Amino acid sequence: MANLIFMFLAILFATTTLTGNAISDCNGPCTDLNDCSGQLICINSKCGDDPDVGTSVCEATCAPSTPLTCGTESYTTYSCSPPVTDSTAAILTLNDFSEGGDGGAASSCDEKFHANSELVVALSTGWFDGRSRCLKEIIITASNGNSVTAKVVDECDSMHGCDEEHAGQPPCDNNIVDGSAAVWNALGIDQDLGRVDVNWSMA
Ligand SMILES: *[C@@H]1O[C@H](CO)[C@@H](O)[C@H](O)[C@H]1NC(C)=O
Repeated sequence: MANLIFMFLAILFATTTLTGNAISDCNGPCTDLNDCSGQLICINSKCGDDPDVGTSVCEATCAPSTPLTCGTESYTTYSCSPPVTDSTAAILTLNDFSEGGDGGAASSCDEKFHANSELVVALSTGWFDGRSRCLKEIIITASNGNSVTAKVVDECDSMHGCDEEHAGQPPCDNNIVDGSAAVWNALGIDQDLGRVDVNWSMA
């Protein structure tokens, strides 16, 4: 009997230490720094860069945030986007910025709706950068060599979704340039493609 109790305790001990030792990457759960990979430390129960060491592992990799559950689906969310360069790779998607369109609420930069003939885009949350690119122009270049200059009027929300404000749509990926029909037309790309690779830069 004593042996059985000992075995039970040994198994319990082994399981708790094993599960407690799962190593987390950026934004993963943790209770102390031993739970975090590499040089990451545990802040507010999440693994992240150590401000004292000054590493920027998590910033450079743009780790996902807490997933958003919409009904039975779970979606990845991001508060960051890949770094912006002279030619940043993105996915162009199609958005209807007009009233009653699939864009949901009025564009957040100017609180206005926009006709499909206007050269306007929404950028993923990280690139929208807390409104810093509001009403600025970007140049979008397609693989067919065509390019177009369009104005940033909204955020393609990579953190929230599935609600009325976002017209029931899931959160945006973090590498999206969500363009009006005019943007697609100017680039000479068939809107039925839905998602195409582009590069963008500040105009
Ligand atoms: C984006 O730029 C890269 C590097 O300049 C290039 O290799 C790639 O083909 C470009 N993509 C598109 C869609 O134009």
